[in-house]
Amino acid sequence: MWEDVPAGDLHLRIRRPPSAEDLLDEDEFADDERLPYWAEVWPSGRVLCGMLAGMDLAGRSVIELGGGIGTGAMVASMRGARALCTDWYPAAVEFSRWNAGNLGLDMEAVVMDWRHPPAAVLARAPFDLVVGADILYEARNGEALGQLIPALCGPATEVIIADPRRPDARAFVGGMQAAGWHCTREDLAVPGRIDETGPVVRVHRFRPPPAKHNEPVVI
Ligand SMILES: C[S@@+](CC[C@H](N)C(=O)[O-])C[C@H]1O[C@@H](n2cnc3c(N)ncnc32)[C@H](O)[C@@H]1O
Repeated sequence: MWEDVPAGDLHLRIRRPPSAEDLLDEDEFADDERLPYWAEVWPSGRVLCGMLAGMDLAGRSVIELGGGIGTGAMVASMRGARALCTDWYPAAVEFSRWNAGNLGLDMEAVVMDWRHPPAAVLARAPFDLVVGADILYEARNGEALGQLIPALCGPATEVIIADPRRPDARAFVGGMQAAGWHCTREDLAVPGRIDETGPVVRVHRFRPPPAKHNEPVVI
């Protein structure tokens, strides 16, 4: 199905599977408790798109973590970034590549599990901007991202995570603060469809602590 995604003064028309539920796979769940959350654009994803649409990203390197269809990376690319979208579902990466191509964007997409990041991605660090939307919905996610994000950052990197106030996000933010990262937050209204997570998404921005940017964060 086609979906219209508003993003500030931009507008994305993307293709995605009609139903995430239809993609449920018992073997995948049994193996790694994977669920096909990638197949829709979540309220946090739309808030992240709106934020990125308001930024001048010309020439900046941007990586999206758990990008799903990859709308955040697409908007970053539209704003001039060298954007890389990542997700652990190969099907998500395929959709991401297809949509980016359909929109005429020069955006990359690769499979990446936060717990086993490919050397080729780590070799591209530091990124100027690391972004993610609704990726802190399980405790194990925060633990993995606390290890990964510092490895993607340099002293000038900014990290932006849009989150619909999931309970497990608190431990992640607390871990970053305890490790000396500078953290700010802002609550923004969700554009478009509102789901059970409510009409507000919390946007966390992080800056690395001086000279400690690549130390893993213990969550
Ligand atoms: C709730 S969805 C959000 C998708 C998209 N960011 C959005 O807001 O529309 C969470 C995303 O994180 C991805 N994800 C979950 N665990 C992951 C992991 N260990 N490594 C990489 N991606 C992961 C899922 O496949 C999914 O695309």
